[in-house]
Amino acid sequence: MTVSPAASDTGRNAPIDIDAAEFRRIGHELVDRIAELLDTLPARRVTAGLAPADARALIGGGPLPEQGASSAEILEHATRVLTESSLFNGHPRFWGFITSSPAPIGMLGDLLAAAINPNGGAFVLSPVATEIERQAVRWVAELLGYPANCGGIMVSGGNMANMVALLAARRARAGWDIRQDGLRGGEKPLVVYASGETHTWLQKAADLFGLGLAAIRWIDTDSGQRMKVPELERAIAEDRKAGRAPLLVVGTAGTVSTGAVDPLVDIAAVCRRHDIWFHVDGAYGAPAAVLPEASADLKAISLADSIAVDPHKWLYAPLEAGCTLVRNAQHLHDAFAFHPRYYAFADGGSVEPPTNFHEYGPQNSRGFRALKVWLALRQVGRAGYERMIRDDIALARGMYEAVSRHPDLEAFTCQLSITTFRYVPPGVDRHATTAQEYLDALNAKIVERLQLGGELFVSNAVIGGRYLLRACIVNFRTTREDIEAVPAIVARVGAGVHAELDSIPR
Ligand SMILES: Cc1ncc(COP(=O)(O)O)c(C=O)c1O
Repeated sequence: MTVSPAASDTGRNAPIDIDAAEFRRIGHELVDRIAELLDTLPARRVTAGLAPADARALIGGGPLPEQGASSAEILEHATRVLTESSLFNGHPRFWGFITSSPAPIGMLGDLLAAAINPNGGAFVLSPVATEIERQAVRWVAELLGYPANCGGIMVSGGNMANMVALLAARRARAGWDIRQDGLRGGEKPLVVYASGETHTWLQKAADLFGLGLAAIRWIDTDSGQRMKVPELERAIAEDRKAGRAPLLVVGTAGTVSTGAVDPLVDIAAVCRRHDIWFHVDGAYGAPAAVLPEASADLKAISLADSIAVDPHKWLYAPLEAGCTLVRNAQHLHDAFAFHPRYYAFADGGSVEPPTNFHEYGPQNSRGFRALKVWLALRQVGRAGYERMIRDDIALARGMYEAVSRHPDLEAFTCQLSITTFRYVPPGVDRHATTAQEYLDALNAKIVERLQLGGELFVSNAVIGGRYLLRACIVNFRTTREDIEAVPAIVARVGAGVHAELDSIPR
């Protein structure tokens, strides 16, 4: 059925509107279908493993429609395609990259956020939403053991959260008026320090913000993938001697590949001694600081000048939700506030000046990402997060042990909730130098096969040059039964791939 817009007189019958009765009917239908999806996730395949052409065929090709269609029909179609043929990161056996199962309260929160549609750039456009965001930021800080009076803002994810912190550091510590004069205004080139295990956000930031990739000092890591602090000190001394200006050190709380936590206590001390901004990329691992048993290094995120943390990772918020915390809120304001004449936001004579978030981050108009984070924090509290994060870590440890017990699997690392391992076929000597190239190729193929197969989903890590399978559990649906199923599945798929590759002469 096609729906034509009524001629405009204009008493208005806008083609995009849906009346309340119809909205209720198709909305209820949608919620029912989502509830059914959640209820049946464990029995489904993790992914339909579609090729691009398959996905295109499902959504239907063709040019932009000239005329509209029935909202009920198109919503039903989208619901069917997405609930039947997606990759479900809400599945208990999804452990790829660092993407969590989405919290159901967050799904409903996003719907509510879109319905109210507050523009979180300015208080006057989003009075309740702004205060919810302020409280959510404060609660995230409290959860992490960071001062609750810090500055902070919700952003799209880890890359952006880290970039916002870098920009705040640059403005605060460049030593000249970088806003006015840009990078060329300084006599000394700025340099930043990070371990070789740091996520690629840093390259993007150095490139985008004009520092250049050559401004990054990559510091070596030890056998536990942690930054070697003496090398950091050496690099700082060399740069100072050469007339360069050390700006910031990135310490990571939970590296993307293996979940390693840098020696943050020592890095904080180096930064203090040398008066350098101490930034922690805690996009993944920072929430684990909520555990009373967290290591001293994890707890040392509280010493940072800024922290990036991703509610859409280990706080289980649906995408997207990142968060930047900056010890001194003024630094965020200094980096981002402008006051154009077209933004004459009144304070309503209030004794307390309202927060206009467009002055604290790069975005102007801003969606209500904070709602889903705030709702989940209210739903489960500190105790709930403690329990879920502890369980994820215990399950990753359980997977490491289960893998270690299997004769054809070799476990490598287990840090926070990331476990790495590889398949080694019977008859292949895992220690032989000559076998490594084949094992790398074999395990790369196994990852590929698993990712399309739908039984479980892992991604990869490369440690010491070895290609490994990597499972990251930021998934409140994963159970012990799920992780105990891993060795047999991987060994079976591994044997199949080995049989195929082994028949190819090499
Ligand atoms: C340590 C770390 N930093 C930053 C990021 C980037 O986060 P996002 O993908 O949300 O931009 C990731 C993503 O996995 C990460 O693990």
